Amino acid sequence: MAHSGERFVIVSNRSPVSFSRSESGEREYSRGAGGLVTALNAVVRRSEGSVWVASATTEEDAKVSREPAPYEVEDLRVTLVEHAPEAYDLMYNRIANPLLWFVQHGLYDLPYSPLFGEDTRRAWEEGYLTVNRNFAEVAAHTAESERASVVLLHDYQLYMTPLFLRERLGRGVLISFFLHIPWPGPEEWRILPGYMRRGILESLLAADVLAFHTHRYARNFMDTVSEVLGAETSVGEGVVRYDGREVWVRAYPISIDPAEFEELSQSEAVLKEEEFVKGLPGRLLLRVDRMDLSKNIVRGFAAYGRMLELHPEMREQVTFLAQLQPSRQNVPEYAAYAEAIEQAVEEVNERHGTDSWHPVELSMQDNFPRSVAAYKNYDALLVNAVRDGMNLVAKEAAVANEKDGVLVLSETAGAHEELGEHALTVNPFDVDEQAEALYQALTMPAEERRQRAQALRKTVESNTIEDWVEAQLKDIVAYRDHR
Ligand code: G6P
Repeated sequence: MAHSGERFVIVSNRSPVSFSRSESGEREYSRGAGGLVTALNAVVRRSEGSVWVASATTEEDAKVSREPAPYEVEDLRVTLVEHAPEAYDLMYNRIANPLLWFVQHGLYDLPYSPLFGEDTRRAWEEGYLTVNRNFAEVAAHTAESERASVVLLHDYQLYMTPLFLRERLGRGVLISFFLHIPWPGPEEWRILPGYMRRGILESLLAADVLAFHTHRYARNFMDTVSEVLGAETSVGEGVVRYDGREVWVRAYPISIDPAEFEELSQSEAVLKEEEFVKGLPGRLLLRVDRMDLSKNIVRGFAAYGRMLELHPEMREQVTFLAQLQPSRQNVPEYAAYAEAIEQAVEEVNERHGTDSWHPVELSMQDNFPRSVAAYKNYDALLVNAVRDGMNLVAKEAAVANEKDGVLVLSETAGAHEELGEHALTVNPFDVDEQAEALYQALTMPAEERRQRAQALRKTVESNTIEDWVEAQLKDIVAYRDHR
């Protein structure tokens, strides 16, 4: 595929590489994983010479950030941004991950929380705004020194960067902002304090192109700026007019690289892990998630327990493998959730297990090869998120699976817009419905399984990560021509 010839500055909080020192004192690095980072690697492939700006999070990262930069590693050119630890902590652990993440995924128990006060404003000003100013400063400097014409900003940790960047660079550079998590409707944005809500919306409207995973999020965004800021919106054209500017609002459903998963499936590490996966008794029910409240992991175990209660003949006929990666453990809600998960697993195992059978096999560590081995072998995959921007597990699993596995999919995961038709759809709050869907998935006739699995795979293959990048580049060029 030809590359675009544009030079980009890509900005995300999470870095594609993390640096450390070996015992002998040499600099080492490891490539980051996760949906966002993997996806942005595809953007890099399409834009030679681009620079990726991200937060420094280790001591060695901080050293790299002080070098004249960009630092070259494999096919990447990376510039790391050093933040004062307290500012970063306030941004990450007080504003971005509990607050914004919770509002946008609908995780608050509203009669009791959140409670905003002076400390919220302090975390916003001293943490979130400070970190966003750092990002804008480094991105602006990089754009100037690299003569880049486009800055691609990614995700909710960077909501205020478009504004600061615009103040610094004027209108000469095209700014696009991509959101990887859900954008809920205006009522939910009203939960946030006024200064935060208005600040975020006005900053986003300083960008040129705003992009979401689904049409629903794009519509919700337009409703929000129309209600909160009184901006003029045209849903049909995908345009917001505000303060004399025109901002394009688009939906580009993110995807994966199917070829990468086919190759990975045959790797030695994965083949080795397959021995473990294949040794689990009965049919395989799988979930693969970061340990995040939005993933609805606890209710998933309750649904599985309910299925074993409603269909006792399924006992010893199935194992539920839960591959869960630890995440954001410094946020108290996440630490508590990890405990709730362990407790929920214990309950199911104690109630239904036997000497030779653990109904749930729980793994709470990052083991990607084992996840891919499980992708190949599941009979049913549970994705029951409360809300999810997209959910790439559903897509990765669909192309890697070799067993005509059935997907049980939450209607509020972004992936449902594309995959829902071929999955068993569930309401993430309805435990009985999920229990029945699990049973149906595990007992479905072979021909129906085959048809659904093929359709899922085809759907993913018809919109790959390369298509995702392509669609954005096309609109960037169109926006520029239009302006
Ligand atoms: C989600 C977010 C990303 C984030 C990732 C991992 O996918 O959209 O922005 O990088 O989770 O979370 P973490 O907090 O570890 O970066």
